[in-house]
Amino acid sequence: MKLSVIGSGHVGLVTGVCFAEKGHEMLCVDHDTEKLARLKKGESPFYEPGMNELLQKHLATGRLKFSGRTEDAVEFGQAIFICVGTPSTPRGKADMTYIEKAAQTIAENLKEYRLVIEKSTVPIQTGERLKRTIARYVKGDAQFDVASNPEFLREGTAIEDTLKPDRVVIGVDSAKAEALLREIYAGFNCPIVVTSVGSAELIKHASNSFLALKITFANWLARLCEASGADVEQVVHGMGLDHRIGRHFLNAGIGYGGSCFPKDVDALAHIAEELRVDASLIRLISDTNKSQLQRFYEKMESELWVLNDKTIAIWGLAFKPNTDDLREAPALRLIDMLKKAGAKLRVHDPVAMPNTRKVHPDLYYARDAIDACAGADALAVCTEWPQYRELDLAKVKASLRVPIVFDGRNCLDRKRAAELNIRLLGIGKGPIGAQ
Ligand code: UDX
Repeated sequence: MKLSVIGSGHVGLVTGVCFAEKGHEMLCVDHDTEKLARLKKGESPFYEPGMNELLQKHLATGRLKFSGRTEDAVEFGQAIFICVGTPSTPRGKADMTYIEKAAQTIAENLKEYRLVIEKSTVPIQTGERLKRTIARYVKGDAQFDVASNPEFLREGTAIEDTLKPDRVVIGVDSAKAEALLREIYAGFNCPIVVTSVGSAELIKHASNSFLALKITFANWLARLCEASGADVEQVVHGMGLDHRIGRHFLNAGIGYGGSCFPKDVDALAHIAEELRVDASLIRLISDTNKSQLQRFYEKMESELWVLNDKTIAIWGLAFKPNTDDLREAPALRLIDMLKKAGAKLRVHDPVAMPNTRKVHPDLYYARDAIDACAGADALAVCTEWPQYRELDLAKVKASLRVPIVFDGRNCLDRKRAAELNIRLLGIGKGPIGAQ
């Protein structure tokens, strides 16, 4: 089928290359000319494993094309996926400017039937708004449907998540829309959940907020473990073996970040409050997440006494491994706090250093993880990149001025640290090593 995508960011581009991989003809549109130039050369504007390969493959097969004009998207695809950004406004409400603009352009260029599909994470009831906006601005009598097909991809495994999803959710209110979406997903081997448009929108928000709640529960448990002498990893292991609970997303750490969880949790609370439904449970997720990093900073302060003039190594800048995305990355907030306290920072990340340099040009960007530790009074681990887990802790100890490590992701080998007499302070478990 011929399909269009408006917005070639993380969601849009992954949608474009994955549907091309499944045999569809794709046209992806973006208004950013610099980004388009890179895409046309087969170069992804962001780091995502496997993306460049698929991009180049389907530029070559001719199943993937790019354009700077939204009008082209309306003409090209029988179905149009809207994948534009919906940034948070300061009060947590999603900014719908780009969605509305896309709807207006679709309406003004509608010449024959089109299925308009919202794929960006949008507040519930956006489908209704989209429908009304297109109906208001449409010029001729061409027909259209609006559907919701939320995306559940994770950065770092986005291609795998999209090609082999746990489920595909399609929110529709006409048989024609359902038939088209079923045809689009014919090559996918997973359950297809058909719902109303509103329910599909809520499934996305509810899923992300529930996952954020799971992480937050683990982080809260970690506090209880630290206070009581228990070990949070042992506790969540014991809990997670119960199939009703599951072990995923119960890793305590310095809090969740990224482009989705913080924004979606706030947006869900905002929508609930607008609909006069008490949202204190959801608000608490966000508040607890923020204070988790604050506690980590306080732990560092209490251990290191004076932060002013101390040299601190930081491993991991991206909000999670396998991405160069810094949006809502806990490491960036920690850097702000440590800088304010007068600490000198030596940072390392396998892929996110160029992006960090744009925000913090004044840090020392290390050649590798061991170089980051050279002469430092302590090391703080903010992202659990696999290569950090594999490093020999003896080399880390030899490089540090004082062997104190704050493991914000519980990813380092505690047994080895104990053997080497490294002082290791994790999350939700007692410290080990010399005082
Ligand atoms: C998330 C959802 O998983 C995905 O379905 C949705 O489409 C977009 O938002 P993403 O933001 O890419 O994906 O990352 P994810 O792997 O979910 O991690 C989010 C954050 O939670 C990261 O900061 C991660 O470090 C943190 N996290 C995750 C934990 O702190 N503990 C965990 O157990 C799991």
